[in-house]
This record gives sequence, structure tokens and C-alpha cells, in this order.
Amino acid sequence: MYQSTSYVLGIDTHSELFDGMYINPSSPIYSFRTAKFGDKKILILAGADHKTGFAPTKENTYDTLENVAKKYYPKSEVVYRWNTRDCISLDKIPYIGILSSFMPNVFVATGFNKWGITSSNVAANIITNKILGKENKYSFAFDSLRLKPIKNRIELKNMGKQVFKSFITNRIKIPEDELSKIENDNGAIIKIDGKSIGIYKDTSGNVFAVKPTCTHLGCLLTWNNLDKTWDCPCHGSRYDFKGHNIYDPAFKHLIVFKLT
Ligand code: FES
Repeated sequence: MYQSTSYVLGIDTHSELFDGMYINPSSPIYSFRTAKFGDKKILILAGADHKTGFAPTKENTYDTLENVAKKYYPKSEVVYRWNTRDCISLDKIPYIGILSSFMPNVFVATGFNKWGITSSNVAANIITNKILGKENKYSFAFDSLRLKPIKNRIELKNMGKQVFKSFITNRIKIPEDELSKIENDNGAIIKIDGKSIGIYKDTSGNVFAVKPTCTHLGCLLTWNNLDKTWDCPCHGSRYDFKGHNIYDPAFKHLIVFKLT
């Protein structure tokens, strides 16, 4: 599976809203629903998704969503905004069933491909029937063992090797001309003596340097300037600009460099 990031706005439209939830079938996909906000309803508009760990394009931003909202509700005013991640299976079908043939009493339900409200109900029915020893005519379609778990065994072994450590700090010298290529409030990966260094410069020009290698299985991280995070394109782990792990499956912080 891989992770996909979507953006969401909570919008006061200053006009009457609909009931129900709606999604369009073609790309770009947006979903519309409502939520209670004090004594009125606000619009929850989601979409502009992209693979986690890849820098968002200009179509993948809160601005795009705001423009979509304004098209239908010209008086729109954004009151909340956030982004979220979903597990996407390679064949786009969730995995629902036993975790492994060695652990028949442990169940898994994942890879909902952004259809969690629907798929979690399917999962609840299938798993309930499995526990009760009843047939479920849909369970074959979501077979959790449909891919041999060889890759998972490798991943488990790698996870086992990882140890909880807080920051390992190394000293590094970064030439001023390299640093000056990065604007304030921006991040990038630069090469120093053949090594990749992840740099973020805050709004005042303070520099934060990390080793941009995911502590899960070692993929190269990418800078997400919207959230000021380092994101992993492989399985969606994320780290703040100081290298703190903020999103699993990685659970270890990044190596941090102190500038000399
Ligand atoms: Fe798996 Fe980064 S390598 S989340």
C-alpha cells in the first residue's frame, strides 16, 4: 500500500446548505458534505489529493479547494483547514480478514482507499462473521492474504532491528553559498561531500538540518512546504522540520545535524 494526502476545508458559505454527502466520479475528485458549526452548518470540502511524499503541485493546495467552493458559494469564508492521509492498496481493494495464517485470531481491515465510512461497515460485517464462524459471501473479494506476505516479513524484520533512540546529533559544515540558495521559510535537499542533507530555513533564516532518510525502511524524504514537514513517498511516514517523527509507520526520529 501507499499513502495519499488529501486537503480539507471547513467553510462558512453564508448561504443555505444541502443534506447528505456527494462526490464527483471524474478527476479532479472533490467531496462535499456538511458539519455542525455552532448553530449553523458549514461545508466540508475535500480533495486535491496527491501521493504522500511528493511535493504538491499548484492544483493540490488549499487555494484550489477555496476556488472550487467560491464557484458554488461566492461568499465562502474558510474557518478550518487540515490535511489527512489514507492507505491505498495497489489493486484499490481493501484488505479485510485475518492478519496472517499463523495468527488466525488477529484481524486486519485496511487500505480503504478513502472510502472508510463504507468499507469499515463491510469490514465489520466480514470480521464479525469470521469470529462467529459464519460464511460471508463478500469476504473473498477483500481477502487479506491475497498477496503473499513475503514483503511484510522483510518489513517486520527491519522494524525489529529498529531501536527507540532519540536524536542522534552530528556536526556538519554547510557552505554559505549552498544555504543562500534556499529561501527563508522553505526547505530543500542539498548535497554536501556526496551526502544528502535536508535543510529547512525558518522565516527568520534559522537553519534546521536533518538526514532526509526515512527511519522506517530508508526511502529518501521530500520536503512538504505547505506543512513544513519531511514526508516519505514509500509508506507515508512524516517528520516535522526539526526531525521529530509525527506520523507512522516510522517511529524513530531523524538524525539531526548541528551546523558548525
Ligand atoms: Fe516506509 Fe518511509 S520507508 S514510511
